[in-house]
This record gives sequence, C-alpha cells and structure tokens, in this order.
Amino acid sequence: MTTKIFKIDKDIPYNNLKDLTYAVEVINNGGLVAFGTETVYGLGANALDKHAVKKIYTAKGRPSDNPLIVHIAELKDLYYICQNISNDALKLAKTFWGGPLTIVLEKKKIIPYETSGGLETIGVRMPSSKIAREFIRISKVPIAAPSANKSGKPSPTNAQHVYKDLNGKIDVILDSGECDVGIESTVVDMTDNPTILRPGSITKIMLEEVLNLKVFSNFNENDKNEVPKSPGVKYRHYAPNGNLTLVIGNSANVVSKIKALLKDSKIESDKIGILATKETAHLYNKNKYCVLIIGNRNNFQEISKNLFNTLRKFDDLNITEIFAEGFLEEENSVAIMNRLKKASSYKIINV
Ligand code: TXA
Ligand code: MG
Repeated sequence: MTTKIFKIDKDIPYNNLKDLTYAVEVINNGGLVAFGTETVYGLGANALDKHAVKKIYTAKGRPSDNPLIVHIAELKDLYYICQNISNDALKLAKTFWGGPLTIVLEKKKIIPYETSGGLETIGVRMPSSKIAREFIRISKVPIAAPSANKSGKPSPTNAQHVYKDLNGKIDVILDSGECDVGIESTVVDMTDNPTILRPGSITKIMLEEVLNLKVFSNFNENDKNEVPKSPGVKYRHYAPNGNLTLVIGNSANVVSKIKALLKDSKIESDKIGILATKETAHLYNKNKYCVLIIGNRNNFQEISKNLFNTLRKFDDLNITEIFAEGFLEEENSVAIMNRLKKASSYKIINV
C-alpha cells in the first residue's frame, strides 16, 4: 500500500477541501487515516466498522485487548455511542470538550467489541483541533483513533513521526503540522467513582474543581497495590530504542548523579544521550555526548510539547544509552513524569 500524505491547514481545513474529502472517503470505505489533534496524531478508522478497526491493530502491532479512543465532533454524538451517562460525566464533557480529556463510559451496542477491546465501556473524546473536528464531522461517523505510532513507540507529534512508523501500512496521513499539547489526553473513568486512568494536561485538581468530588488515580502500574484498570497501561510504552535511565530529584542533585553515571558508563560516549533542560544543558560535555534540550525546567507546557519528539530524536541519532533528567512531582508534571517513567521501564534513580 502507498501511503498518501496531504498537507492541511490545522485551523482552516477548508483550504484543502479536496484532500479532506479524499480522507473522508477512505474512512467511509473502511480505510485508515492518520490525522493531527491538539494532543498527538491519531490513527483513525470508522469506529462502527469492526473490519476497519481491526486494521488499526494490525498496522500498529497493537494487542487486540487494548481499547481504542472514540473521537466525536459534537457533544450530541455522545448519546449515539454511550448510555447511562451520569450528570458528572456530562459536566466534565461540557467543561473540557473540545479538549484533551477522554471520558470512559458504558458503550451502546452500535460500538463493536473490536473497538472497545472486548469491554462494555469505551473512552470518548471530542478534540479541540479544528481539522480533527471537521474530519470527523464530514465523515459522519465516530472515529476510533489510538495514537498513530507503532505500538510501544513514543506517540507521534508530527506527520514525519507517523510516516516513519506507519508508511506503507495506512492509506493517508493528513499533515497539519506540530501538535500543540504533545502528550495524550487525560483518561478519566466515569462509570464508577471518578478515576484517572492516564494523566494528561487536564489535571486531577481541574477535574475535582468541576465535580466537587474526590478524583482517584489508577495509573501507577509499578505500585503492587493497584490492579490496572486501563488495559493500555500494562504494555511497554513511549520507549525509545535506547536504554533510558530516569534520575529524579532537585536539579543540582540530578545533574551530579547523571555526571557520575556518565563517568561509570562502559558505553562509547557517542552512543550516549542526555535529556537535559535549558538551565542544565551547559553543565554537560556536549562535544562528547548527545545533549538534547527538552525545554525550560519550569515550563511544563513546553516540556510536554517537546517530550516525544526529543525521545524520537535519540533514536534517529542511534543513541543506545539515555540519561534523562526527571522533575519533582507536582500537579503539572504528573503526566510528563508518567511518560518518562514508562519510557525508562521504571529504571529510576531518586537522588
Ligand atoms: O490524546 C489522545 O488520547 C490520543 C489522540 C489521538 O486522541 N489518543 C490516544 O489513544 O492516546 P491510545 O489508544 O494511544 O490510548 C488510549 C488509552 C489506552 O491506555 C487505553 O487502554 C485507554 O486509553 N482506554 C481506552 N478505552 C478504554 C476503556 N474503555 N477503559 C479503560 N481504558 C481505556
Ligand atoms: Mg498510544
């Protein structure tokens, strides 16, 4: 299969109506289209068509029990695919949609088990991205879309990432440029007590303020007391090819620990990468090691936006050993640290 790439304006998709219409036809004929959202690129198929949805799993190499997020264009579309929607769930939808929040709800029969990974529930999201919304609206079907990466790789935040992972395996890539948020949506289960299954840029406190209720968390899969509720969390994720060690603490301690690790490392120096910040990058020998800057230490929005792109760069540069600076956990760094911990397969040093 040849993968077609169309450049499309993320704010005014009608400038490229012909390409958008072509992508819509592909969806309506059971094909696969990758498209940009405000979070990351998604790999879309008609969520109502089990044959189309199966192709997503094949293209990504994704385990079939890992459910897909269903994307809708308008709030009213929610009633077409979900039932027993609580007032609290609706409150969240009305407050945070379109935006980076996925709400897990009881599915209606119209959603096949291929889409829900065999579950009676589905995650639903209405993106804020104009191009994503228009694409769904014109398709006239809900669109199932996991992140458009090869299973296990960091999520794609631009069309080149998608091309690298899925060229020849999907029909179309709608290239709408870089994603603004850079990490995937917050997933909150609203079928029971509100529970965050995956942290994102919409934080626990933001949800609690709207609901006026305690919101629980269930995404710390290395915590032996927690049984993972979200099937996705049990799989290796966000991992670059290189072996990543995450060092967490205050910035001065983190830098000295990484320097000590560099000194002890048996790996050739040109195969070693350091994930650093603007404030700390100059403290490492950039002539010897590959030092990449993820952003300003205090700007978590910037760090989120650059995170996956930076992890992918280490792969492009054939780095086999990565030492990554971690951040102290606070409300706005939880999602970033969640992705970094997974990328390290829990090889974490606290200093
Ligand atoms: O920002 C995003 O959410 C992106 C863009 C494309 O919208 N999509 C995305 O999809 O990240 P994916 O499939 O890579 O991640 C979906 C996560 C997985 O961890 C999955 O297990 C969980 O959501 N999930 C989906 N449906 C669920 C359900 N019914 N119950 C529990 N977890 C669910
Ligand atoms: Mg994913």
